[in-house]
Amino acid sequence: MLSDRIQRLNPSATLELANKARRLRRDGGDVVALSVGEPDFPTPGFIRDAAADALDRGETGYTDTAGLWELREAIAEKLGRDNSIRTAPENVLVTPGAKFGIFLAFQTLMNEGETVVLFDPAWVSFEAMAEITGAEVRRCPLDSEMLPDEETFKEAVEGASLVVLNSPCNPTGAVYPERLTRSLVETAVDAGAIVLSDEVYEKIIYDGRHFSPASEFDEVVTINGFSKAYSMTGWRLGYVHADPKIVERMSRLQSHSATCANSFAQHGALAALVSGERGEAAISEMVRSFRKRRDYLVDALNGVQGMRCVEPKGAFYAFPSFDLEMGSFELSNRLLERGVAATPGAAFGPGGEGHLRLSYAVSEDRLGTAVDRISSAFEELSE
Ligand SMILES: Cc1ncc(COP(=O)(O)O)c(C=O)c1O
Repeated sequence: MLSDRIQRLNPSATLELANKARRLRRDGGDVVALSVGEPDFPTPGFIRDAAADALDRGETGYTDTAGLWELREAIAEKLGRDNSIRTAPENVLVTPGAKFGIFLAFQTLMNEGETVVLFDPAWVSFEAMAEITGAEVRRCPLDSEMLPDEETFKEAVEGASLVVLNSPCNPTGAVYPERLTRSLVETAVDAGAIVLSDEVYEKIIYDGRHFSPASEFDEVVTINGFSKAYSMTGWRLGYVHADPKIVERMSRLQSHSATCANSFAQHGALAALVSGERGEAAISEMVRSFRKRRDYLVDALNGVQGMRCVEPKGAFYAFPSFDLEMGSFELSNRLLERGVAATPGAAFGPGGEGHLRLSYAVSEDRLGTAVDRISSAFEELSE
């Protein structure tokens, strides 16, 4: 009567925790939500204006399944400019959020029973998407710096059809060095696998440089979007870059599911890409704020007895390890009782156990309150 496949699926741990924190707040509780996966800045005004203008002009119908042609052109140009991917609009599919793009990619690239390699820990939805597709997940552990180890990866990729890379990484904040990414993709391609490169945090980097493997390898499907770079999470707009044959198949699936991405949101996204300086200035200001908060948070966490935090190089997450007599799910519950929503590291895979993921997409003031609460919780819990 009900689908076993969906029955087996766990709800997104990150979204569930955010919902719980929201519910507690609604009931009058004071919870600092360090569980959120979205920038706490408004979408830049010129992007909002462009979408509002499109609405006023009556741009309220369906667009082409693969997205507005002008937007696909602008994305192709952006990929050339920012990512050294020389490409064409036919290689681009606009999707309702990067997440739906990843969903389409899994459905299009994988057969039931085939193997996908995920690093451990990895963002929660990769595993769920594999399960929906009927694919097998093989986890590849990370080293102590939260980076893939080339030798371990070589073994993990044997016989796999798909490998998921995600730099800057959610949940760890790690940014893969260019040389490492190149070597991982070479290994994957030699083993006959396709690489899905999720680059949604590419603009939020503090140290190092973003490298898009599709600039050098044809066997890469690139995922990106507008949520994180332009604070547009609620607009639901992302895109996929791939070989036109793959784009055509994904587009077919999109035509029978979402139909297309929201029309006026696409006009807003177009403004974001063709704005030149304005868009880049908005991003730089956001990254400056995130950097300040990261510096504060990492310092403060390393001052908490029983916690150790490696400095994240990108995204807006810290992934500290802790030394307490309990697992990360229990610690997360204990912290929620004390007014801090922190995602358990084990939600991202067994390799995340012993860690928490803390999003610093909250004001410095709230971050200070959270650190005070974490600090006193650790004093209590380690007694
Ligand atoms: C690694 C990663 N990929 C994709 C997404 C989805 O982004 P979007 O809002 O564009 O669907 C997220 C959002 O949290 C993410 O962390």
